[in-house]
Amino acid sequence: MHKDLKKVMFDEGQIAGLADSIAERINADYEGESLTAVVVLKGSLVFAADLIRRINADVRVDFMQASSYGVGTESSGVIKIKKDLESDISGENVLIIEDIVDSGRTLSLLKKELADRGAKSVKIAALLSKPARRVVDVEIEYIGAEIPDEFVVGYGLDFAERYRNLPYIGILKPEVYR
Ligand code: PRP
Repeated sequence: MHKDLKKVMFDEGQIAGLADSIAERINADYEGESLTAVVVLKGSLVFAADLIRRINADVRVDFMQASSYGVGTESSGVIKIKKDLESDISGENVLIIEDIVDSGRTLSLLKKELADRGAKSVKIAALLSKPARRVVDVEIEYIGAEIPDEFVVGYGLDFAERYRNLPYIGILKPEVYR
């Protein structure tokens, strides 16, 4: 375990189990369909690489980097798109892949944005969710695990751009981020 962590929350085997369970549900829902996986950079890159390899449908992959503006409790905020998709998603089944849902602002705005572009369907697969932090109500169709409000890093998740490369997910020691 990395010295900056106080505990491992999900080891590699447990993460694989979460990815298996999400993929099983996706494979049941998209049978005979194709889909465009929208990987939300940067945190989702590791999970997306594992998830798409478990999906049986015909998958196209595209990338987006986005964040939400403002601190309101409504989903009517503004989405800031730092990197946009290359492909036209009109008529496509879109599966947004996220590492973690916190306030729900980014996902709520992103879901609306992609629906407004004419996608046939827009669903979200998130490895982790912190329900205690939710400010905006957004439907997450596929969730790997709900976790308490702890500062988690690894498997794509960062603190100040570090720890993304850890193969497991752990809880950061408070003295590291305070
Ligand atoms: C994280 C995560 C989501 C967003 C969730 O990304 O990957 O995109 O925050 O937060 P929300 O539910 O409060 O909107 P972050 O902005 O940290 O960027 P990163 O993926 O590049 O680390």
